Amino acid sequence: MEAGQAQPQRSRHFAEKLKQASQNGSVRMIEIGSWAGQSTVIWAKAFDELQLSGNLIAVDPWIPYFDTNINSGTRYTAMNQAPADGLIYKLFVHNIRSAGIAGRIDTRIGKSIEVLPSIPDHSIDLIYIDDRTLMRMCFMTCSNRND
Ligand SMILES: C[S@@+](CC[C@H](N)C(=O)[O-])C[C@H]1O[C@@H](n2cnc3c(N)ncnc32)[C@H](O)[C@@H]1O
Repeated sequence: MEAGQAQPQRSRHFAEKLKQASQNGSVRMIEIGSWAGQSTVIWAKAFDELQLSGNLIAVDPWIPYFDTNINSGTRYTAMNQAPADGLIYKLFVHNIRSAGIAGRIDTRIGKSIEVLPSIPDHSIDLIYIDDRTLMRMCFMTCSNRND
């Protein structure tokens, strides 16, 4: 099954980022926004190719996330229907299992604001945020900080 939203050519870029983040052959990372797991699979395969240890914490509430007043059109309506009955979460689980990477993934269901407080300080080497609105908020927050 497929519900991909991104391009496979991300794999080279991901591998470069993992190399930069690795410490003694290991990377602890968080992905915020996993949807059906396409990027999750690409990251995990890059771990394998680089023979890195470590894991990826996949954070997503797996609920509708498009504001159809802003993003109108059948594509967005259909994507907002995909989480119904847990379908998109089931697809995520199916995809990571069939890719053989489930052992590396620590799945956390919830929004980042709910999940991140449970992650110990200084325990993460790399954060990947795959949601435009959330990225904008992060940039705004970071650029308003003085420290
Ligand atoms: C563009 S999709 C992710 C695509 C996915 N990474 C891929 O490669 O196919 C954005 C995802 O971000 C998630 N999301 C939005 N806000 C979030 C938040 N505050 N915390 C965690 N996930 C969030 C949505 O539920 C959605 O699954």
